[in-house]
Amino acid sequence: SRPRVWVSQPLFDDVIGRLDEYFDVQSTAQVSEYAAGEIAAHLRQAHGAVVTLNERIGTAEIAGAAHLRAIANVGVGYNNLDIPALSAAGIIATNTPDVLTETTADFGFALLMATARRITEAERWLRAGQWQQWSFSSMLGSDLHGSTLGILGMGRIGQGIARRGAGFGMRVLYHNRSRLPAAVEGQCQASYVDLDSLLRQSDHLLLVLPYSPEVHHLIDASALSKMKPSATLVNIARGGIVDEVALAAALAQGRLAGAGLDVYEGEPQVRPELLALDNVVLTPHIASASLATRRAMVTLAVDNLIAALGEGPQAGRPATPINADVITGKTIATKR
Ligand code: GLV
Ligand code: GLV
Repeated sequence: SRPRVWVSQPLFDDVIGRLDEYFDVQSTAQVSEYAAGEIAAHLRQAHGAVVTLNERIGTAEIAGAAHLRAIANVGVGYNNLDIPALSAAGIIATNTPDVLTETTADFGFALLMATARRITEAERWLRAGQWQQWSFSSMLGSDLHGSTLGILGMGRIGQGIARRGAGFGMRVLYHNRSRLPAAVEGQCQASYVDLDSLLRQSDHLLLVLPYSPEVHHLIDASALSKMKPSATLVNIARGGIVDEVALAAALAQGRLAGAGLDVYEGEPQVRPELLALDNVVLTPHIASASLATRRAMVTLAVDNLIAALGEGPQAGRPATPINADVITGKTIATKR
């Protein structure tokens, strides 16, 4: 019988349908929230799976999955996957970088502009019939042109944001675990600084770094206290990077002018402290959500899974593996 594949969420039916050529596919017509035991039950039957960032997959979920050989994550961030556990079990994991870079950088800029220029707050004010209360000093925001843009996390998306910042006439600073080659810095017109300087000098700070436990609450009360009270903070990375309680307090007390958040610690829950504030723009994790890019992400995930399970033109060579060492056999597979 053919290998079995589990698809955790409704994606694009026509793209997912390409899996039917090779596999018996179990998919769902409904957006689903799974308990850990339910994921384990699905994986127990499966040779491969297409999952989203809402599905956490670690030791417990793969414990009984004797046939499982590949997990294709639809997303560039993969903190939902326990990669060491998957590698130890000989399971190839893939993600969807590159195809979402420009779309996500566009959105980071959109969220920055909405926050700095108070676009959503102004619209709420208009819709509430308050334009009659207009004065010359209503809805004053801060400029992007001529200001200092700080980027924390200078991967592909960070570099895309840097290029946009330079195009908007901003001075661009960045901090990253490792400094970029001078040629790349030159292309992005971005200068490397330490984290402390980035916090202190940025008029607008964008978070674009991957989440790992080492950066949990990297932006805490102490980090926020180093930022200018006139500054804007935008997070399109992962919620866990920011201490949201400290952020809400800083915003409420005027120690930070505004924030734009696309990601949260407890998605899909948003803290009431944040919902109560006017100077924060809140979006529901949509940075990669253009039609073309979401389709491209699912297409790449499907191609990755077909290849990782040894089928199709790229058999054995998925384009964007996370743990390539599993493919080359460098990982010592333990009890399967
Ligand atoms: C979305 O957050 C992604 O990582 O692609
Ligand atoms: C993620 O690593 C990215 O910036 O593309």
